[in-house]
Amino acid sequence: MKGIIFDLDGVLCSTDEYHYLAWKRLADGLGIRFDRAINNRLRGVSRMESLEIILENYHGKPLTDVEKAELAEQKNTVYRESLAKMSPADLGVEIRATLDELRRRGYRLAIGSSSKNTPFILERLGLADFFDAVSDGNNITRSKPDPEVFLKAAEFLGLPPGECMVVEDAVSGAQAGHAGGFTVACVGDASRAGVGDYNLTALPELLKIL
Ligand code: BG6
Ligand code: MG
Repeated sequence: MKGIIFDLDGVLCSTDEYHYLAWKRLADGLGIRFDRAINNRLRGVSRMESLEIILENYHGKPLTDVEKAELAEQKNTVYRESLAKMSPADLGVEIRATLDELRRRGYRLAIGSSSKNTPFILERLGLADFFDAVSDGNNITRSKPDPEVFLKAAEFLGLPPGECMVVEDAVSGAQAGHAGGFTVACVGDASRAGVGDYNLTALPELLKIL
């Protein structure tokens, strides 16, 4: 391995919880059943695709595309209020130490996230200039499980997929990694599902397998 491509939400930071809470508030307001099991299906998929999954349990009058866009915007406003409160202290000490040690060992490090809020989150965490490449929701047309975001990250790093490891918490993200020809290490929900080549209990375990 020469490059490591990290998903962001739920891998380097706990913003996956902020996504959940913001969607939960929207769903409760609309009287839609939404729980953590359904939330796991939103991991790695784009904002509008996430809304469509939530609306599978909506039984009111059909919504127009404009109304759906407004709902997604409402969720994003609530979500960004949580992001705005973040600071470098929200980057776990052991996460920072893991990133620093991987860099010390000479790996090229990238982000591969479906989120359009990636630049904002990296700035809040004090990581705006840390990564060698950032591929995110702003430079892709298809979200995970499509491999596009990781293939772009590898391209930005100047490495073939076979020389890169993808680190994911989403089942859709692990599928994207496999589809792109990457080695996949999982944490969180994807690790519990056992869909990685490596299923880790915590991110620092990367230092043992690399
Ligand atoms: C992914 C999250 O990282 O980004 C998904 O796992 C989220 O839950 C997606 O829907 C898009 O995020 P954003 O910030 O562009 O709404
Ligand atoms: Mg994630």
